[in-house]
This record gives sequence, C-alpha cells and structure tokens, in this order.
Amino acid sequence: MERDSGNSSHSTPVVTRPVAADWLGLRRAADHEARQNAAPVIKRISSWLDERLNAGQAAVVIDLGAGTGSNQAWLAPRLTVPQQWILVDHDAGLLDASTATDAQQVRSTTRMVGTVHQLPELVGSEAPTLVTCAALLDLLSPQEATLIAQTIASSQAAALLSLTVTGHVSLTPEDPVDHQVAAAFDAHQRREDLLGPDAAETVAGLLRENGVDVEVVETDWVLDAAQPELVERYLTDRANAAVEQNPDLAEAAQQWVQRRRVQLQHGDLSVRVGHQDVVCIPEAQAALSAG
Ligand SMILES: C[S@@+](CC[C@H](N)C(=O)[O-])C[C@H]1O[C@@H](n2cnc3c(N)ncnc32)[C@H](O)[C@@H]1O
Repeated sequence: MERDSGNSSHSTPVVTRPVAADWLGLRRAADHEARQNAAPVIKRISSWLDERLNAGQAAVVIDLGAGTGSNQAWLAPRLTVPQQWILVDHDAGLLDASTATDAQQVRSTTRMVGTVHQLPELVGSEAPTLVTCAALLDLLSPQEATLIAQTIASSQAAALLSLTVTGHVSLTPEDPVDHQVAAAFDAHQRREDLLGPDAAETVAGLLRENGVDVEVVETDWVLDAAQPELVERYLTDRANAAVEQNPDLAEAAQQWVQRRRVQLQHGDLSVRVGHQDVVCIPEAQAALSAG
C-alpha cells in the first residue's frame, strides 16, 4: 500500500479526537445505501470529467478525510472514467487500515497523511479534478470550510461533499427524552466552534458566495432492526456525547438508551438520520449532455 507523507513543509497532524475504525466499518453499508439517492449526480460528474479528459489522462479524485476508504469503495466503480485517487486523512492509523478498491477504472491510489489545509497544493493537476469527502464537513471549523470552498471555486474542480449530518434525526416511536438528547448532542457537535449540523448549509453558502453553482441531495440513513449493531452503537454514542456536553443528563440518557434498546430488540424502532450531499459541477452543460 502506497502511503505518502505529503509535503514535507507540513508537520505531522495532531489528532485530538480520533474517529474509531470499527465505527467506520459499522456505518459503511448504511452510508452506501443512503448514497443511492445521489446516483444520478454521479453520472453527471462522470460526464463532466469525461468531457475534459485528454487522451491517456486520468481524472484526479481527492478524498478529504478518507478514513478507511468507504468513499472510494462506493464512488470509484460509479465514476466511468480512468481515475487517480489521493486519499487524505490526518489519522495515519485509519489510512493504514483503509480498504483497497478493485474498481477497474482506478489507475492509482495514494494515501497521504495530511489535513484539509493541504487541498490547495493538491488541486494543481492539468487533469480534471473532483474534490470529494464523506462524513467530514461537520467535523471542520469555519476556517477550514472557507478554505475548501475557495479552493474548489478557484480551481474549477467539481465537488461531491457527501453525507454531512443535518441534525434532523427522527426516532419512531417518539420518546419524551429525545429532544433533550438531541439538543445536547447538537451542542456537542458545535463545540469549539465546529460546524456540526450547520456544516452542509454553511459550505453550500460559502461555495455560492464564491460563485459556484451548488446542488444539495438528501442522503438520509433510514435504519431499523435490520441493522441492530449500527443502531445500538449510533444511539449509545449519541447519548454519550449528549452526556459529555450536559452531565446532568447522565441518568435520563442511560434510561433512554435502555428503552430504545428494548424497542430495537422487539423490532419496534426506526431511526432516520438526516444527511446531505453538497454537489458542484462547474458547467451546466454536463447536466444536458448526460440527459
Ligand atoms: C466520520 S469519518 C469519515 C471517514 C470516511 N470518509 C468515511 O466515509 O468512512 C471523518 C474522517 O475525517 C478525518 N478528519 C477529520 N478532520 C480532518 C481534517 N481536518 N483533515 C483531514 N482529515 C480529517 C478523520 O480522521 C476521519 O477519518
């Protein structure tokens, strides 16, 4: 597996809140299912890349916050052009655990330990470029979001910024503690000035301010007892974050998880978790040519 340490002028990133590899494994199938809703957009991105490729070239696909490679696993086989991927993540351990794609159109994959701050130096290729990420934007600061939006705008790259949580979570049946858990969880997501559930709207707004056409596609998770491990982990992590934000919720949140667990075991619980994909295809004719 090829791993590049990136530009030597950047020091090794400090990962203050690592994302667990097993969580990324658990959510992969639900992420891929949710992204089916964005499939028509992928056809248009493919056409856009294809129209701009010179003979022998491969499109450059830069995957920010690539983690264990879920975005590449879903996207690479759906892009119908030759591709050269750069997986960027500040967590070397996740990149080391990342899966290899067997998509035929992928000519190379470089794994680079780095941060979103390195995007400007990665977009300089003469080949058409797609900037992508999945489940990343909510973890970023406003400054990082501005950098990404400005880089996409100035480089004329296409962008597919997928699976950003919106904060719209509905659990059926409702529970009296849902609202308290949601409020504390969302505040936790926004801690230290992170974008949290405002991320998709913020990034879409920044892109528009920079003159980029933006589309937004809903890519919600729709979960139930068919994915018991994922639902249980999602609810437990949600409660833990809520309690970290508001320790007074400790007992209520613990009982809430227990009630939800019983409903899940009885097949009585469904969970919808709002996500959005922010999509930029620089010229509108890609939409026309792909039909
Ligand atoms: C929720 S995970 C998503 C991983 C992967 N894209 C997926 O869909 O499974 C977010 C990823 O972004 C990485 N990350 C967070 N902030 C980052 C930053 N500023 N620069 C680079 N990577 C970052 C984390 O290490 C983690 O791998």
